[in-house]
Amino acid sequence: MSIRIPPWFTSRFPEERMKKFCHSEFGLELFKQFLSIVGTHLFIIGNPGSGKSQKIDYFLELLCKLETIIYWDTGKDDVLPLFNFGKPIQFLIPYGCKLEIKGDLPVECIVTQVMDPGQYFDLIKKDWINIISVRNFFSDERELKKYVKAIFKGFLLKARKGMFSAWTPACIVADEAHVIMGSLRIDKSQESQDTGRDAANILKEVRSIGIRWIITSQGYYDLQGTARENAPCYVACRGTIVDRRDNPRLNWLSGFARNCEPRHGWIVLPNGEYFGRYSPITFPYFPSPAGVRIVYEGYADLIDTSETDELLLTGRMAFTDIPSELIRSSLAKDDKLEDLPDLGVYGKYVMLRKVGMKNEN
Ligand SMILES: Nc1ncnc2c1ncn2[C@@H]1O[C@H](COP(=O)(O)OP(=O)(O)OP(=O)(O)O)[C@@H](O)[C@H]1O
Ligand SMILES: [Mg+2]
Repeated sequence: MSIRIPPWFTSRFPEERMKKFCHSEFGLELFKQFLSIVGTHLFIIGNPGSGKSQKIDYFLELLCKLETIIYWDTGKDDVLPLFNFGKPIQFLIPYGCKLEIKGDLPVECIVTQVMDPGQYFDLIKKDWINIISVRNFFSDERELKKYVKAIFKGFLLKARKGMFSAWTPACIVADEAHVIMGSLRIDKSQESQDTGRDAANILKEVRSIGIRWIITSQGYYDLQGTARENAPCYVACRGTIVDRRDNPRLNWLSGFARNCEPRHGWIVLPNGEYFGRYSPITFPYFPSPAGVRIVYEGYADLIDTSETDELLLTGRMAFTDIPSELIRSSLAKDDKLEDLPDLGVYGKYVMLRKVGMKNEN
């Protein structure tokens, strides 16, 4: 077989690896139908522990050399293998919360606090791995859903206006998609239906501006019908169940996927062709870097904003006018203003309220 994968792709990876990749029918088709076509979505399905998060890494390790990555943190250490991909990492977290990465990091890593949920996608760094980390910073699932909804509010509008052209092409990863996109299987509420419809619209529209999604879920039916139709690549892992009328290929593969191992799976490409024909594909394992740990501190929904909300009404700059006596009077007995992290006056004020809350408990 002649090599038909261009150097702009092969030059980004080790030569040995590309020799194998370019000479396999699978590598060639994956390149032609998925990797080289920006905006092509991928949907990974499988029951708990079937290797979904690990399979994301298989695609991300390739895509992070080609596109900006935006990864929704599941809060379950799934982000750790990303530290081995050689790309700088930015964590985006809610304002007033704290994320600490302990251990020797193999790449540059920064943490950015985000003041307003509407700002997350404005702060994406091109060609970096951007990790949106909100799940562990909410004590109440409903508050998390509201916050995520606020993150997406305006996303489509800004996308349509071309406001993301500074960092596209990009790949947004939603592992455990029901958390951010809602799931009618888990939650039949109106809010979940609305979120599902928004997600379907986003999938449909962002493709044309070079943003793809990788979505994992425990069930094919977690996503609304129109959203599924916009995910032309699939990976079937253990426990995939799909009705024949909805997707005959996935229905057929689900018979084989009933009892397979977490490292196994089948890939269905946009033209309906699938890989894993004679035996399932064996995906590599992506380890976490030794000794690296992430510590999440604080809850965005427990910060008492009653007073700060009032102040916000008078504009953000108004915080510079908070009299230092007011700040000092919020201090607990043993706290010193100088010891608080320097987050600007507003940040200090929020931190003070947190310190106050901690002391009350
Ligand atoms: N490619 C692989 N090679 C070897 N072991 C694997 C592989 N993929 C997954 N595993 C094993 O299966 C376990 C579960 O994998 P993973 O966390 O990716 O599953 P998951 O479907 O995302 O689970 P959950 O639904 O709980 O998030 C891993 O901790 C690992 O032990
Ligand atoms: Mg997982």
